Amino acid sequence: MSEDPQIRASKIVETYQPVAAHIVQATKLTDTEILLELRLGNGQSLGHGAGQFVQISMFGVGEAPISVCSSPTQTETFELCVRAAGNVTKALHRLEAGDWVGIRGPYGHGFPVEEMVGKDILIIAGGIGLPPLRPLINLVLENREQYGRLIIVYGARSPQDLLFTDELNLWATCDDVEFHLIVEEPDDKWQGPVGVVTVPLRKIDIEPAKTLVAAAVGPPVMYRFVAFELLQKGLPEDNIYFSLERRMKCGVGKCGHCQLNNLYVCVDGPIFCYSDLQGLEEAVEAWAPPTAEAGGKRREPGKGHG
Ligand SMILES: Cc1cc2nc3c(=O)[nH]c(=O)nc-3n(C[C@H](O)[C@H](O)[C@H](O)COP(=O)(O)OP(=O)(O)OC[C@H]3O[C@@H](n4cnc5c(N)ncnc54)[C@H](O)[C@@H]3O)c2cc1C
Ligand code: FES
Repeated sequence: MSEDPQIRASKIVETYQPVAAHIVQATKLTDTEILLELRLGNGQSLGHGAGQFVQISMFGVGEAPISVCSSPTQTETFELCVRAAGNVTKALHRLEAGDWVGIRGPYGHGFPVEEMVGKDILIIAGGIGLPPLRPLINLVLENREQYGRLIIVYGARSPQDLLFTDELNLWATCDDVEFHLIVEEPDDKWQGPVGVVTVPLRKIDIEPAKTLVAAAVGPPVMYRFVAFELLQKGLPEDNIYFSLERRMKCGVGKCGHCQLNNLYVCVDGPIFCYSDLQGLEEAVEAWAPPTAEAGGKRREPGKGHG
């Protein structure tokens, strides 16, 4: 029997209707990133999973998809880290405690956290890729005994661009976190390694069968190089999860803006298993291992890595 039109209409309204949320705190993290702590006006918890995103609306300006960057166990409030990129995100940077915004979501598929229990976890973050991975890192840290090694590789353009510096210091001094930090453009004070995330990644020894990887590393070209390094280490494609970004409008699988061949990044992702990205024409261009380093033929769509 088909669904009552009134029920269907109310479900559609629910999906699209933002809930008012107020800013509890707005903290400048860098020249281009702000951390917003929000509370839903209806008193409910957001109820997000690690890797999910919300659509945040700035009244009179527009909406933007932003990953929830606080732990799912933080229930009274939630956090969003926003880089000033254009109209909406620049307007979000003007928010102060007490201001109101609209929130839809949480949307999308997050990381398979149950599958990660008992495994070594390798997190690879580049630049603004750290916020979608932070809830996962916090989940692992909060339940440390349930996981094997926790290895975090984080790369930023410069020391001034590093996000969540207090947490970085904590990870660096934690006995049971293997933390690798690298920047591309060091300043006079920088004493750490220089380069991109693949530099430390290359040196890390892992047991491929018991390691799960979660990565968000910025521009598609970086995904391509990270995938290459991981496959070189013998990691099965099923053990690699990437957080993808595409331009979005509806966030709920209706408009097609985020379409990647037969997948909608908003509902099928934004977290994708690497093996599910094989054979996607657009994805293959961005994801195939670099041929020069591989020293082999370019992979044909749908044929996997051989
Ligand atoms: C699932 C998902 C999660 C995201 N999480 C975060 C996050 O945690 N923090 C954060 O700062 N940003 C995040 N983004 C990116 C953010 O949504 C865009 O920066 C934002 O929509 C830009 O809107 P705007 O109106 O400010 O810019 P516009 O005025 O629309 O555009 C400004 C510039 O940003 C580019 N742009 C717009 N949207 C995107 C996009 N989706 N990806 C790449 N470039 C884009 C445009 O091409 C243009 O060059 C996420 C995007 C997605 C799809
Ligand atoms: S954003 Fe509309 S279908 Fe994904």
